[in-house]
Amino acid sequence: MDNNSIYGDHLEEMNMVLHHTLNTIKQLAAAIKEKNGMEPIEHLKGRIKTEESMREKCRRQNLPETTDSALNVLTDSIGIRIVCSFLDDVYAMRDYIAKQDDIEIITEKDYIKNVKPNGYRSLHMILRIKGYYVEIQLRTISMDTWAALEHHIRYKKNISANTSLIFSELKRCADELASTDGSMQTIRNLINEGN
Ligand code: GTP
Ligand code: MG
Repeated sequence: MDNNSIYGDHLEEMNMVLHHTLNTIKQLAAAIKEKNGMEPIEHLKGRIKTEESMREKCRRQNLPETTDSALNVLTDSIGIRIVCSFLDDVYAMRDYIAKQDDIEIITEKDYIKNVKPNGYRSLHMILRIKGYYVEIQLRTISMDTWAALEHHIRYKKNISANTSLIFSELKRCADELASTDGSMQTIRNLINEGN
């Protein structure tokens, strides 16, 4: 056991909680598929925040680099991203997760209804599962593609020129993708109505 880890001796348990939650999500997705006839999840990812980025986040937030900060003050040591094909699937997954007996919702932020100024869209939930916080991000494929590009640009150094053009073009892209998500959902509804 690495006692220098910011997670103390919790890593094994954290991994168990991560995998337990991923399995629960897969089961919920199977139940939705059973009901709707379509797989709601396009892809599913989970991670324990690396030692390095957890320490970096503690420093950035002026928190001591302790296990308490990592597990009880910050809430994203265990993170899961659920990427759905359609908008309705995002909310179906959200509702099924909320109904789970061993999952408590601590906070929920709907950046799909309340879009961030830069155009970022996702549904965020902080959950409490088996004594640990778990951050869940739910989004569509379009939202995921946009977030990946925006993240890439943000961490790209020396963007000194064209800053406001980059910002406004990114925002426009986000809004166009959101409009396409809406149309795709409408098309799926029309197909389902015909069956
Ligand atoms: P941190 O941003 O992690 O310090 O937490 P917070 O309390 O500000 O929560 P928020 O819900 O704003 O963001 C949590 C996570 O969502 C981030 O760590 C990112 O993974 C993602 N996120 C939030 N906003 C953006 C954004 O504008 N662009 C991208 N690409 N990701 C974002
Ligand atoms: Mg933030």
